[in-house]
Amino acid sequence: MNEFLWGVVPYLSLAFLVGGTLHRYVSDPIGWGSRSSQLLERRWLKWGSLLFHWGILFVFVGHVLGLLVPVEVWRAIGVGEALYHLTADWVGGAAGAAAWAGLAVLLLRRALNRRVRLNSDVLMDWVALVLLFVVVSLGVAMTVGYNNVFGPYEYRTTVGPWIRSVLVLQPEPGLMARVPVLLQAHILAAWVLFAISPYTRLVHIWSLPLAYLRRAPIQYRSRTHYAHRATEEGGRT
Ligand code: HEM
Repeated sequence: MNEFLWGVVPYLSLAFLVGGTLHRYVSDPIGWGSRSSQLLERRWLKWGSLLFHWGILFVFVGHVLGLLVPVEVWRAIGVGEALYHLTADWVGGAAGAAAWAGLAVLLLRRALNRRVRLNSDVLMDWVALVLLFVVVSLGVAMTVGYNNVFGPYEYRTTVGPWIRSVLVLQPEPGLMARVPVLLQAHILAAWVLFAISPYTRLVHIWSLPLAYLRRAPIQYRSRTHYAHRATEEGGRT
């Protein structure tokens, strides 16, 4: 079972993620995107979306620093265990709490606002939102709950090397055998989320408007003003 969960499931999930994303891109180019519901309701959306997106951005950076940077590197640059965990728990905890609160607002909005509820799709909207909530809740429960009750868990010597072993295609499932069940559940839920994400609104992650930063600025001018000046200029010639 251990071999399957930590040696096979990650690759099944990544295969669904890559294959599903390509399939969705080709088969549903018009439906691709975040399917914004801003026109239906904007007050709750503003708070929910801002809290979630800023929180998850910091959570993402935290995952990269905590899981992809080996613990030896942290030690070599003088960041000891105590300093690392203090920062990770406070900054990671705050970012996780912001993402969690944002998701709670978005979930309540979707359930309670009639216009948004009637325009929601089960897979596109609900499954993705609920799964995100489960993944983030388990992560925060680990960082804020487990670590305060049982003391900081050193995932940089288990989960970190394991995820790197998966990424270099030489999985070492044994590293995950003794990881707390709460953290195992968090990671398994994340693999399920990655696998279904191609068929949800989460595909907009791959469409960051980066070209926007490079493109030439577009000038807008008022039609009325333009029409007025055009008549004036026309009159003069
Ligand atoms: C395979 C993928 C993932 C792995 C291996 C992973 C691993 C971890 C680890 C080791 C922690 C720290 C637990 C602690 O403090 O003791 C954590 C926390 C957390 N994770 Fe993940 N995670 C994954 C995916 C995700 C995803 C997809 C999300 C959100 C969509 C997420 C959200 C969180 C949050 C909110 C926390 C708590 C706050 C924080 O540390 O920033 N994780 N995760």
